[in-house]
Amino acid sequence: MESSSTVRFVFFSSLFLASAAHIADFDSYWQKRADEATNQARRSYDPDPVSLTRQFNHQVDLAKQKQKGRGLRGANRMLVGLCQATNPIDRCWRCRSNWADRRRQLAECAQGFGRRAGGGKAGELYVVTDASDSDVVDPKPGTLRFGVVQDRPLWIVFARDMVIRLAEELIVTSNKTIDGRGADVRIAGGAGLTLQFVHNVILHGLRIHDIKAGNGGMVRVSESHVGRRTRSDGDGISISGSSDIWIDHVSVANCMDGLIDAEQNSTAITVSNCHLTQHNDDAMPFGESESYSGDAITQITLAFNHFGAGLVRRLPRCRWGFCHIVSNDYAHRTMEDAVGGRKNPTILGYATESENGASSVESGSPELKQEFPSKENELIGSYVSRLTRFAGALDCVADQQC
Ligand SMILES: *[C@@H]1O[C@H](CO)[C@@H](O)[C@H](O)[C@H]1NC(C)=O
Ligand SMILES: *[C@@H]1O[C@H](CO)[C@@H](O)[C@H](O)[C@H]1NC(C)=O
Repeated sequence: MESSSTVRFVFFSSLFLASAAHIADFDSYWQKRADEATNQARRSYDPDPVSLTRQFNHQVDLAKQKQKGRGLRGANRMLVGLCQATNPIDRCWRCRSNWADRRRQLAECAQGFGRRAGGGKAGELYVVTDASDSDVVDPKPGTLRFGVVQDRPLWIVFARDMVIRLAEELIVTSNKTIDGRGADVRIAGGAGLTLQFVHNVILHGLRIHDIKAGNGGMVRVSESHVGRRTRSDGDGISISGSSDIWIDHVSVANCMDGLIDAEQNSTAITVSNCHLTQHNDDAMPFGESESYSGDAITQITLAFNHFGAGLVRRLPRCRWGFCHIVSNDYAHRTMEDAVGGRKNPTILGYATESENGASSVESGSPELKQEFPSKENELIGSYVSRLTRFAGALDCVADQQC
């Protein structure tokens, strides 16, 4: 079956100007980076999103059947001592006690639209030893900023627990993994992360909170380029013009703008196992505006996330694109409007928790709605709570199951 978003994709408007968020001088460097990213996004776009959605739902059903077979008592017993990888993504790595020696295996574990995100798996390990961010133009070796602007692929890890207060947006470049497992890594009290015109990034195991707008100014955006930025919005994670992105087990709270947002031709994204709290506006806006149809290319999987206390609405708000919303826990919400859709997006919910009135929402063609009758598939929420029980950054210890 052809999805309606495939059809809409044809009607790309050329209205979009060559301006992009927070780039003060959209020079030839950025033009080239934007062109490459746009081409890459087209390649990463899945022409048959519905089959992928079906496959993913099937995986979730299998996981549920396993849980069901085990029964509640069995599941509780499992909590003591034994590893509890309750969902198909976690099952790929969490119960292996050698995770720290084989960190890159995580790159095989993504599912959904962001499944091809390999991050820095082809690169060396880069260890962040310095929590400072005192020079955003010539970052010091050992800092997180130094790692993320390197041109080569890198798998970035942390030597110890740290709180990193970013002086300006952290401009992450392509082919990077930021892997916080094994340390309590907080990006807090300063600016947030920016994925702009990049490809192939994994963010895992980070705690991002109390994010404020950066003032702007000169910031290094790659090894060879320093660019002037305008004031940033204060998003936790801002994704624009980017593809093959996987955000997993990240906790995000209390950001001045969105917690996680995606816009401007971004696609092939999975946000899974994340724990989102404290935000009094649109927490997850996907799609830049009602007039920018470029976002019809957007394909996002939101799976096994926990939408916790203090959230108001738009988890997510999908404009234009294709959002697959599967087994997210909305248990704590007091929102008037959990999931929002504008501009005829395709939103397929599946087995989404409906306790406390947060019913799942689907839009798209009537045939699709019939095929993905999410409410009928709900099993009174308990499976969703189990699938999302370990959402957010985990406290992983080397040589132990995580
Ligand atoms: C988004 O894609 C459209 C169509 O492919 C293109 O015209 C536009 O320049 C792209 N926008 C960006 C920000 O790359
Ligand atoms: C990322 O890695 C791929 C594969 O190694 C390479 O083809 C691509 O050019 C890299 N992208 C950037 C922007 O460095």
